Amino acid sequence: MRIDVHLTPEDLTEQLRADARAGLTATPKWLPPKYFYDAYGSDLFERITALPEYYPTRAEREILTAHAADIARETGVKTLVELGSGSSDKTRLLLDALHAHGTLGRFVPLDVSQPALAAATEAIAADYSDIEVHAIVGDFTRDLDRIPGGGSRMVVFLGSTIGNLNPGERAAFLRELRGALEPGEWLLLGTDLVKDEQTLVAAYDDEQGITAEFNTNVLRVLNRSLGADFDLTAFDHVALWDAQHRWIEMRLRAQREMRVHLPALDLEIEFRPGEELRTEISAKFDRQSVATELAGAGFTMRQWWTDPQGRFGLSLSRTSERPTRH
Ligand code: SAH
Ligand code: AVI
Repeated sequence: MRIDVHLTPEDLTEQLRADARAGLTATPKWLPPKYFYDAYGSDLFERITALPEYYPTRAEREILTAHAADIARETGVKTLVELGSGSSDKTRLLLDALHAHGTLGRFVPLDVSQPALAAATEAIAADYSDIEVHAIVGDFTRDLDRIPGGGSRMVVFLGSTIGNLNPGERAAFLRELRGALEPGEWLLLGTDLVKDEQTLVAAYDDEQGITAEFNTNVLRVLNRSLGADFDLTAFDHVALWDAQHRWIEMRLRAQREMRVHLPALDLEIEFRPGEELRTEISAKFDRQSVATELAGAGFTMRQWWTDPQGRFGLSLSRTSERPTRH
């Protein structure tokens, strides 16, 4: 087992400084979602996946359970690369299927969260002792060139994490990914689908308040990493459906007027009562929008599966002969 660190805790704090300065001095205020995932945030995400309201993980697992063997047969890859791998829990279905197919030789999980990656990697290395496990602590919007080459590869990007990027970021990400792959290699992409507003909003505003705790965790990270003094109890969790952009937006709403200090940035910011800070978008898709975005980056969709209730889509694509030039 090997763990390459291309993003140290110091690098991440440096990025957080730049992003916090840009986002917290903007109107409206925003923060990128990747800072949710310290050890506590990664643990909260795992708890979210088990919530009755949060259907995406269960729906994607249903699809993988039904089709992992088809995926192994069609791709026959030696290397499975997973972006934003987290616990890699569902990925075990693919590892098992490729193992049974007799082709699996290497697993390459990549995640920004070092604690989540280390725990998942150790567990997988112990359970799949006859394959090479080569983990990468990195950012999938920056470090795709660090993915090891050689042998046939399939990149898997599950959980609809691609929906946490905005459309411009998605296009850039998919083009980078295409550039990092050889012709004929594979992408397995999980995408949550557009559906009724009530189901969507409930998935991001659960009864138990675990998603609210996850949302607020970004402030905890700012307090710890930048010495900020956010009062975590003075913000309300907001989840709303933006029908025009077709994404869920998570926000933190200030309950009162506040002045927050960020000593590491030599910065002081103000919140008006009711002012909102955007912490995440989670875009929702349909088959056509996924195929179009993939095609724009040089991928051809070969298969499309949904769970029986049609809540979540999993697409299997292959790189076209040449990357599209822009
Ligand atoms: N793939 C898992 C986990 C999804 S949660 C699943 O389907 O359940 C999103 C994961 O992406 C987290 O583990 C988080 O740490 C990681 N992540 C978020 N932004 C990232 C980035 N820019 N680069 C790499 N990993 C990132
Ligand atoms: C990781 N990502 C796809 C999750 C989502 O559904 O957008 C993160 C999440 N945010 C709130 N709940 C879960």
